[in-house]
Amino acid sequence: MTRRIAIISGKGGVGKSTTAANLAICLAQLGRQVTLVDANFTTPDLTMHFGTPAGTPTLHHVLASEYTVEQAIHTHVSGLRFIPASIAIADMKKARYHRLEKLIEKLKGDYIILDTQAGLSSEVLSVIAASDEVIVVTNPEWPAITDALKAILLAKEYGAHVTGVVLNRVTNSKIEPNMKGLETLLETNIISVVPEDKATKEAVASRNPVVISDPDSDSAIAFKQLAANIAAVTYRPPSSFRRRMSRIFKRLFGG
Ligand SMILES: Nc1ncnc2c1ncn2[C@@H]1O[C@H](COP(=O)(O)OP(=O)(O)OP(=O)(O)O)[C@@H](O)[C@H]1O
Ligand SMILES: [Mg+2]
Repeated sequence: MTRRIAIISGKGGVGKSTTAANLAICLAQLGRQVTLVDANFTTPDLTMHFGTPAGTPTLHHVLASEYTVEQAIHTHVSGLRFIPASIAIADMKKARYHRLEKLIEKLKGDYIILDTQAGLSSEVLSVIAASDEVIVVTNPEWPAITDALKAILLAKEYGAHVTGVVLNRVTNSKIEPNMKGLETLLETNIISVVPEDKATKEAVASRNPVVISDPDSDSAIAFKQLAANIAAVTYRPPSSFRRRMSRIFKRLFGG
């Protein structure tokens, strides 16, 4: 059975694309067949995470019937299949978004992960409608949490199963809300707590998601744990000795 999972948030900039890219790669590394779709139609940025060359067929071209979906699939070294979006305004205007659901139905494999744009616009609703499940990403700050709650309610209204919340950029400072209280408020389980981690930022600069660029970093471990939860397999994080050695190696040799 193919699981179609949309990554949504409400508020922008909370880590949807980061979560989508790393979750998709981790699932592929677990041997699952995964297609990551950049369904952020207006402000796509997943190509930045992968360094996909400009001028290649994209989801926008497929939605405008200029290419087939197969032509828009790029294969990443991890085995992940990736459908990028176009950054051109002209392509944005040509795409017929109502075709998305049928197009996503055609994609086979174990997981289809769909990144979305910020807000709860009709474009985001079309992605939710094309998915079976949603993962809601939020930061531990009230404006983001309020928007996450709206996203959860809307997803439920559209008949999507809410798989859980990813709490991203957690610093464990006293001003952050208590996890149990947050789960009660959102009526949803927190399925991942991703720490604030500069390795995640460095990863974007290196055009490689953090689970590849710094696999023993705190955020990479959180994403691997999330993927294991989704795939219902056990994940054993690396020992603190291995993580220390990996840090020293990185400091000495970079990369
Ligand atoms: N755990 C983290 N630690 C530190 N920085 C992070 C973390 N997660 C994401 N970021 C940074 O936050 C910024 C926003 O992340 P991202 O692009 O994934 O958010 P988004 O929700 O997809 O944004 P948009 O709504 O614009 O699509 C990026 O610069 C990213 O590197
Ligand atoms: Mg994004």
